[in-house]
Amino acid sequence: MTEAILLVGGMGTRLMPLTRNTPKPMLPVAGLPVTEHQLLMAKRAGITSIVLATSYLSEIFIPYFGDGSRWGIDLRYAVEEQPLGTGGAIRNAAELLHGDSTVAIFNGDVLTGHDLAKQIDFHTSHRAEVTLHLTRVTDARAYGCVPLDADGRVTDFLEKMENPITNTINAGCYVFEREVIDFIPARTVVSIEREIFPKLVAEGKNIFGFVDDSYWLDIGTPSALLQGSRDLVAGALGGQKSEFFAGRGCSIAPDAKVIAGSSLGAHVKVENGAIVQGSIVCDDVKVGQRSEIINSFIAPGTFIAPESKIVDSYCAKDGTFSLLTPK
Ligand code: GDD
Ligand code: MG
Repeated sequence: MTEAILLVGGMGTRLMPLTRNTPKPMLPVAGLPVTEHQLLMAKRAGITSIVLATSYLSEIFIPYFGDGSRWGIDLRYAVEEQPLGTGGAIRNAAELLHGDSTVAIFNGDVLTGHDLAKQIDFHTSHRAEVTLHLTRVTDARAYGCVPLDADGRVTDFLEKMENPITNTINAGCYVFEREVIDFIPARTVVSIEREIFPKLVAEGKNIFGFVDDSYWLDIGTPSALLQGSRDLVAGALGGQKSEFFAGRGCSIAPDAKVIAGSSLGAHVKVENGAIVQGSIVCDDVKVGQRSEIINSFIAPGTFIAPESKIVDSYCAKDGTFSLLTPK
């Protein structure tokens, strides 16, 4: 049986201030935390045992996910007192794995429609030691570039290059043979991308790329987070295509408009004449009469005064705004 490790301990720096009180993987996308979308995806691929590698705001995950039984998953937490980097986090979390067989590892900020079960089959049939999910992007500078040879073997790993040598990039979902994880030094801060992958390639390990061009998005910036939420509401990962999503207990006045892939958390009240467009509105928000919220993120519990106009912004619970950077 394949187990999984989910890397959810990063600081989410590019998403500040949204990540001041909420770790990036717990931000809502189409009504569910990013991590929950990933758990569901892992479950569909047959994975029922997962270790969450947490660090920054680790305490936020446990009350929501508990032991995972609500999802039919055996969930455990490997908490890093100090962030160990992506490699150190994997090595640390591996101590909580039950078995010695294949392990799937995900970056905790990715929405992906690729078929993980197929990636695992590919890994097995190629007798690979590591198989990386790769996707193609137009601008590869923010990602790990992964060149392949004609057989699909990884020939190098180049994290974040100014002049990318390929637009085939690391999509942040790996299948590892358990013993390869022991190659990562224990209790050490280490990057899987900058240190371990290049070393594994140099040592001639059997590393393959599973190239797949299904829907894929890293939600690491405010605009990407909003885009991801709108895409999922529009059915990018399957399910019903909708104009908007509303959580339980929402009330929307008959002449209010919630449009363009907006997503409302639980118990959101949208009053007369208000417009919510292309936005994420968290739980327990009240949107006052005739206010407009466009391409914005509203923190939980916020009261938006009547006739407000909020565009491309983050609004905190205390009512303060900040403009979201366009990238
Ligand atoms: N537990 C733990 N500890 N998790 C961490 C740590 C850590 O010290 N550092 C980062 N993470 C988690 C983050 O929470 C995130 O889910 C994941 O590791 C990747 O970190 P990011 O900070 O989002 O990296 P990135 O987006 O710049 O680049 C990574 O993802 C790209 C694809 O989205 C790399 O893996 C690139 O190679 C890749 O192309
Ligand atoms: Mg990322």
